[in-house]
Amino acid sequence: MVSVLVALQDRGVIQINNKNFLYPNGLYLIKPHSVRPDVICNVGDEMMNKQLQCLQVMKITEKKVVELVIVNEGFGSNDSYTFNMHGYSMRVVATGQSKDGKPISKSEFQLLDKRGKIERNLRNPPVKDTFIVPNKGYTIVRLNADRGGSWMLECRSCGFSSLPVAILIDVPVAIPKAVVDVLPKCGGYKPADVLLN
Ligand SMILES: *[C@@H]1O[C@H](CO)[C@@H](O)[C@H](O)[C@H]1NC(C)=O
Repeated sequence: MVSVLVALQDRGVIQINNKNFLYPNGLYLIKPHSVRPDVICNVGDEMMNKQLQCLQVMKITEKKVVELVIVNEGFGSNDSYTFNMHGYSMRVVATGQSKDGKPISKSEFQLLDKRGKIERNLRNPPVKDTFIVPNKGYTIVRLNADRGGSWMLECRSCGFSSLPVAILIDVPVAIPKAVVDVLPKCGGYKPADVLLN
């Protein structure tokens, strides 16, 4: 199993690990090389990227169970946030809030977890594609990464006027070239210059 811990922060702008999500300039799923490498940042290594926004990717290299821990630190707001997973359901194995009602940092959470204070329900966890990460709290979800593709986990309630908050979960997939070749093309909009001439 691989376990990844991210911090959800709200300091006027809501972010994951100090970044906002950047939609790729190219077709990440079928033409990954068309996406500029400098816009990609791997979840956990976001600080290597100097931009405010980057394409936050969680690369899964083999079929295995992935645990994602989201800590909604709650230093800047009292809001809980709803996440929606595309293409997969997740087992919600734990969710809770800090005991003293105070904000909880990612590192404080880590310490609690290391001390065994975060209990996971592995017996009969609810299976969801949408879940809440409570303010000054956390939610832990697990998924079996057995279906290839690039799947978005996105914050649904992080404000539609604000910058995107999401993670792209990248599970290896081989798409036959014959399929790629017949997919509809899209790209930058080119105005019909005939109208102007
Ligand atoms: C959050 O709630 C507390 C307690 O009700 C309040 O004192 C504080 O001002 C609230 N913070 C924000 C950012 O709304």
